[in-house]
Amino acid sequence: MSLIKFSCLTSLLFVTAFAAAAPNRSTDKPAPPTPEALHEKLTQISQDPARLSAAIQRGQKDAAVCRHCHGAGGNSVLPEVPNLASQNAAYLLEQMNKFVQGQRKSSAFMEGMIKLLTPDERIAIALFLSQQPVAHKPAAAHSAAGKNLYAKLCINCHGASGIGTHTIPRLAGQQVAYLEDSLKRYRSGNGERIDLRMAAYTRNLKDADIQALAAYLSTLQP
Ligand code: HEC
Ligand code: HEC
Repeated sequence: MSLIKFSCLTSLLFVTAFAAAAPNRSTDKPAPPTPEALHEKLTQISQDPARLSAAIQRGQKDAAVCRHCHGAGGNSVLPEVPNLASQNAAYLLEQMNKFVQGQRKSSAFMEGMIKLLTPDERIAIALFLSQQPVAHKPAAAHSAAGKNLYAKLCINCHGASGIGTHTIPRLAGQQVAYLEDSLKRYRSGNGERIDLRMAAYTRNLKDADIQALAAYLSTLQP
């Protein structure tokens, strides 16, 4: 028997032995919950006042590390870092799930941090942040062009005051640089942010349109 055949045979035996032992092993570690199951759990917790307040307390602790970039209570002071305060809980959870599953790209550091959270921690953080008040900031220059574009293209989904719905993000008062980056990412289709609806609505925007929209949205107050 040649050496190659022999090593194939031993690895086959090894695989067979391993497979025989596998049923026990796989029960040790259950598959991670699906995004749908996590959203279902978030909805259930939101509807139960006792569980909600426990989750918010837990989320406050778990989100302590996020303050370094996202600011106290999710009110960012860094231009490229988004506000998370008062963001819609289901949207926050969805984005964390997207980072974990590689469907949204960010810095390796931030992705690594999110991947370290357990699914329950993601839910608790989303609920905590969604309840934090938005800090009022000095208003940036108002953009009439941005207002018109928003009314024409965006208002149907993100709402007249820019607060979104449970799965559509709040845009009101968001950081200008972050809004511009996000819109350019959807437009470029480079895979950093993937969403068919946003790809369709940003496809024909010029850089000046994006600047006007971002300026307008940052001035919307809750
Ligand atoms: C090192 C800085 C940094 C830290 C620490 C950090 N983030 Fe982020 N986060 C960012 C940046 C920058 C973005 C924008 C990512 C992008 O679109 O490229 C972001 C985006 C997000 C988003 C998407 C927001 C949106 O509007 O779509 C969520 C949710 C988020 N972070 C949650 C967290 C949580 C939870 C923690 C703590 C466990 C955390 N981040 C810690 C920098 C950070
Ligand atoms: C058909 C519904 C729809 C329309 C119209 C729409 N959006 Fe969105 N928008 C969404 C959804 C859904 C998301 C979340 C996508 C994801 O998961 O990345 C989103 C995400 C965004 C984000 C990222 C927010 C964040 O916190 O990271 C920005 C910015 C945004 N939209 C701006 C706009 C602007 C400006 C327009 C008009 C030019 C617009 N949207 C039109 C549905 C829509």
